[in-house]
Amino acid sequence: MAVRPVLEIGDPRLRQPSPAVPSSLIGSQELEALITDLRDTMAARHGAGLAAPQIGVPLRVVIFGINGNPRYPEAAPIPETILINPELTPLGDELDSDWEGCLSVPGLRAEVPRARRLRYRALSPAGLWIEREVEGFHARVVQHECDHLDGVLFPDRLQDASNKRARTTRAIA
Ligand code: NI
Repeated sequence: MAVRPVLEIGDPRLRQPSPAVPSSLIGSQELEALITDLRDTMAARHGAGLAAPQIGVPLRVVIFGINGNPRYPEAAPIPETILINPELTPLGDELDSDWEGCLSVPGLRAEVPRARRLRYRALSPAGLWIEREVEGFHARVVQHECDHLDGVLFPDRLQDASNKRARTTRAIA
């Protein structure tokens, strides 16, 4: 088990776009070790997801999942999913706003507009293609995590500063 420190807003590493995982790393022990650290850190912090740049690794890898997490009592379960080099395509132009937090933005939660439905495509750690069409909270988590790969944090998505309210509750991560 390797719980890693989570970088927090103000750290320039959170703002750097991450490069794609090279094909030479797919299936490697190095990538497996990174995924183990992401999984362990997400579990220790009770997050719904985590992106590699949040633990200081600049690669396009995210993990997310919810299954009986007491911090998300209303959320439908999401199977544990690891995406490598994900590509997101919004389906339709409908937006939803809902509350988000982030382990890298402690003490802040806000209602963030996101595409309600989207398709995502990515490689699994085994090098197989994952393709899903999702909506609601699942779509929100994917968008939040993949934003980290581009150096984007959820406060960047707020159009109205008055929408930012400090709350000490759960974090998506
Ligand atoms: Ni986050």
